Amino acid sequence: MTDRKNIIDGKAFAEGLRARITEAVATIKLDHALVPGLAVVLVGEDPASQVYVRNKAKQTVACGMQSFEHRLPVETTQQELLDLIDRLNADDAVHGILVQLPLPDHIEEQAVIDAVDPDKDVDGFHVINTGRLATGAAAMVPCTPLGCLMMLQDRLGDLSGLEAVIVGRSNIVGKPMAALLIGANCTVTVAHSRTRNLPDVCRRADILVAAVGRPEMIRGDWIKPGATVIDVGINRVPGAEEGKTRLVGDVAFAEAAAVAGAITPVPGGVGPMTIAVLLRNTVVAACRQAGIAEPTI
Ligand code: GUN
Repeated sequence: MTDRKNIIDGKAFAEGLRARITEAVATIKLDHALVPGLAVVLVGEDPASQVYVRNKAKQTVACGMQSFEHRLPVETTQQELLDLIDRLNADDAVHGILVQLPLPDHIEEQAVIDAVDPDKDVDGFHVINTGRLATGAAAMVPCTPLGCLMMLQDRLGDLSGLEAVIVGRSNIVGKPMAALLIGANCTVTVAHSRTRNLPDVCRRADILVAAVGRPEMIRGDWIKPGATVIDVGINRVPGAEEGKTRLVGDVAFAEAAAVAGAITPVPGGVGPMTIAVLLRNTVVAACRQAGIAEPTI
């Protein structure tokens, strides 16, 4: 049976992280007269993106930082967006830039990602940051995998020597997660849609990170007893009631929770923590740009 002890509470983890960020921001303000600033750019009116952007702005201000919001109409041209990014790159009050994805179809996402100053790239999507992360240099690291690593270290302490299996090889989660876990001295396997005997591969894992975007694909009997399971999936599926939907992860939660040593739920696991990591990245970016010591958050 599931007991509450093995559920990793992402909301509580995010609250703790935001409290440490608020403290670090206050210290930096006092000692260096520096206020970290985050610019968020939204093109168009995608309802989910509007909610994200509003939450980002609210949490940025709540932590004592400056928030700059740029909402552009859906018909904004790629050149107009690139011009705005140039201005933000040059603005000393802006330490972090996030362009909310997805962008409208007429804008080439990669061109926009490439235009952001790598030192202000708090999403960690720029190829320079990908390279820095892969080589162990000081990178801006994508928020979701960095938050997963923080949760794992919070739960398990030193990860050295542990077998980690990541299911999913996306640029946003799977690949940076692999780089982070290699950096933390895990033995890392990246599995994906062409992996043979996926259940057997998963059963090797002391740490299983699911980031495939397939509802409840990973079953309870794929999980090694006692393993730590991080479910990055957010999938909307039909609910019990006609016309209603509900959110599920990539892991069949009830089955997995009966076997795992610890597991993140969906919702309430990885999701709530990503914005807090974005704020952490903004503080780190501000300190690096100002040449002052980075706080450990
Ligand atoms: N849209 C959904 N999640 C993200 C994210 O982490 N970064 C950006 N830029 N856009 C997103």
